[in-house]
Amino acid sequence: MSRTELETELKRITEAVNSKLEEIARVPDVPEKSVYEAMRYSLLAGGKRLRPVLTAAAAVMTGGDFDDAVTAGCALECVHTYSLIHDDLPCMDDDDLRRGKPTCHKVFPENIALLAGDGLLTKAFEIISAPDSFKTLSAETVNKLALCLSRAAGCGGMIGGQVIDLESENMENISAERLTLMHRKKTGAMIEAAALMGALIGGITDENSGEYKAISDYAMNLGLAFQIKDDILDVVGDENVLGKPVGSDEQQGKNTFVTLLGISGAEERLKKCTADAIGAIEIFGEKGAFLRELARKLVSRDN
Ligand code: IPE
Ligand code: IPE
Ligand code: MG
Ligand code: MG
Ligand code: MG
Repeated sequence: MSRTELETELKRITEAVNSKLEEIARVPDVPEKSVYEAMRYSLLAGGKRLRPVLTAAAAVMTGGDFDDAVTAGCALECVHTYSLIHDDLPCMDDDDLRRGKPTCHKVFPENIALLAGDGLLTKAFEIISAPDSFKTLSAETVNKLALCLSRAAGCGGMIGGQVIDLESENMENISAERLTLMHRKKTGAMIEAAALMGALIGGITDENSGEYKAISDYAMNLGLAFQIKDDILDVVGDENVLGKPVGSDEQQGKNTFVTLLGISGAEERLKKCTADAIGAIEIFGEKGAFLRELARKLVSRDN
């Protein structure tokens, strides 16, 4: 697949995702409107939409329904956006810029931003479980989607990773194992779930099957690579392009792959994880071309 073909497919998926998110983010005319406005603000502030793209692409690769995958991917994007709102709060990373705009708690009162995060998390599971959300999925598959997403978002996944992140601030001599675990959980788990939800929609439901394991392996390595690149961009990125503050990690005393290995060491690790991701889905042959090319593209991303 050429870079142009990748970009065309990426555009097609992103447009479908953004139009679904626009629908999800509608603000009802109710007295508690402010929380919906804060949810809408963060959800539609921009963002690369990598996770729903992965859900849709994995579904396409495995023969699943595109629209159902977009819906499931958007539910996961709600959880991701909640994690960003909370990650930016003063009690977490204390950041003022996100997706090129002031963070949710800078535009809305902090208590409303907190509740907007809660609202998005809850909305995700409402979307997954509502009877009219999916056109092609059995109740059993929908249940599997809910389990997959809740495991990735919960204490065994993203929340657990955020705890390791906070409790590793200013920690001296952090081990590569702890840092890898932190990245796999805080970022890898949700990226893995995004791809696996696509696979579930494509009918790959046996966790012991080679195809399921291949997609899981691809996405876990991609997620690790993605967070290593995020660590690098926090040091060498351009705030105007990145859409979030540069130097935030150093300011917060974060342990990252850059503090552990330096920029060039982190870049080497990023390339290794990307190669592992690409290698993991060899079994899909030509059908895996989009996911392989996407992994290559993310190595040189600047936002
Ligand atoms: C930011 O994720 C948080 C991390 C897990 C590194 P993204 O870089 O995907 O952020 P958006 O969704 O594009 O804003
Ligand atoms: C956050 O990691 C991962 C999440 C679960 C939100 P970071 O704290 O490095 O993400 P950014 O750099 O603020 O986007
Ligand atoms: Mg953080
Ligand atoms: Mg942060
Ligand atoms: Mg970061």
